[in-house]
Amino acid sequence: MEWVYIEDLKGHIDKDIEIRGWLYNKRSSGKIRFLLVRDGTGLLQGTIYSPDKDHPLFQTFDTLTHESSLILRGKVREDKRAPGGLEMGITEIEVLQVAEDFPITPKEHGTSFLMDHRHLWLRSSKQHAVLEIRTELIKAIRDFFDGRGFRNLDTPILTPSACEGTTTLFETEYFDQKAYLSQSGQLYNEATAMAFGKVYCFGPTFRAEKSKTRKHLIEFWMVEPEVAFATLADIKKLGEELIVSIISRVLETKKEALDALERDTTLLQGIKAPFPQITYEDAIRLLNEKGNSISFGDDFGSPEEAAISEHFDSPVCVTHFPAVIKAFYMQPAEGRPDLVLGLDVLASEGYGEIIGGGQRIHDLVLLEEKIKEHGLPREAYEWYIDLRKYGSVPHSGFGMGVERMLSWLCGIKHIRETIPFPRLLYRIYP
Ligand code: 4AD
Ligand code: MG
Repeated sequence: MEWVYIEDLKGHIDKDIEIRGWLYNKRSSGKIRFLLVRDGTGLLQGTIYSPDKDHPLFQTFDTLTHESSLILRGKVREDKRAPGGLEMGITEIEVLQVAEDFPITPKEHGTSFLMDHRHLWLRSSKQHAVLEIRTELIKAIRDFFDGRGFRNLDTPILTPSACEGTTTLFETEYFDQKAYLSQSGQLYNEATAMAFGKVYCFGPTFRAEKSKTRKHLIEFWMVEPEVAFATLADIKKLGEELIVSIISRVLETKKEALDALERDTTLLQGIKAPFPQITYEDAIRLLNEKGNSISFGDDFGSPEEAAISEHFDSPVCVTHFPAVIKAFYMQPAEGRPDLVLGLDVLASEGYGEIIGGGQRIHDLVLLEEKIKEHGLPREAYEWYIDLRKYGSVPHSGFGMGVERMLSWLCGIKHIRETIPFPRLLYRIYP
């Protein structure tokens, strides 16, 4: 008998087939027994009918517990009443294991209990729906860049120097040297962009951030495009198009998962490019008007980002930040050397920053000054400085955090549910 995944059942109606999965639920009603089975791709209801109350399949049915692993054999038929519109008339049950009492039950569990059982929690319908959307999001990102001729060139995870400041670096041994886990592939992207024109890297990044918020992971995935000859305006447009393309793809293909999350997608459906653009100074004024006492030179925290983002129905682009709060590589604004051409895209509905990037310094002397000003060891950046000696051009790029984007798409409050095994401040188990 052919082994078929539940999501592929439509092509096997009225055929005898085999489903391999885990028991999700069971119930009985008179002469019928119902088994609800999940196989990772969907849920299928199987039925056993017999007037004989001692039917051998009924006896097997009685032994099965939640999460027991089994193989069901039988014929699949259409049935409007069944979840998914299909049902299997079971002729055989092969039990692989009768599961022990499953620790996660329909009753409410505390967060720390669920996090301790993350390896099992993944099977719950909501967690499953989020991660289903995650896989689609990753495909949508790759299709977007691959479809535009970007070259996917991944950057190293073990690095000799910092990209995003030295305070959040994970240090490790590299034989007789020190190495750091990558905070961003950007600096290497700048080198590959000069070799390939337009590139992206896509991988895990690490920040030893001592902030315990709903938006920070210690290990997260970031996609980072970098484009030679592109300005701030060019990269802003690229970011907007990426976001619009991801949203439309997920709305189109993951409706069932979004419904399982009870996500109200009204605002997402209305999102169009270009997004409103404000400068950092506009944002400060807006915040002050709303009663926030932030002043020029302060970085936005979560409350500020949320307040700005709630002011708009669409994601919003913030540009022209004070140089003092941004990284060493940012291009100063024309006529305002105290501002840099950074770009942050804040998601709507209070979700805050999902994209960070901007235009990079391309002038050799200026870059050398900035490296010195930021107290960075020049030797470690010698190769990066080289890029400004051999055909230097203006260039721009950004990073988009997969988990931040996914939280917003799914309408999830805490980022820990957007990655199979989150690394959080003080949590590395399981
Ligand atoms: O704004 P960030 O720090 O920018 C950079 O790393 C640039 N070097 C990227 C570039 O220009 N190539 O981070 C970019 C994005 C943020 O907007 C956010 O979506 C995500 O990465 N991010 C985090 N996501 C989860 N947990 C954290 N601790 C994150 N820190 C940043
Ligand atoms: Mg940022």
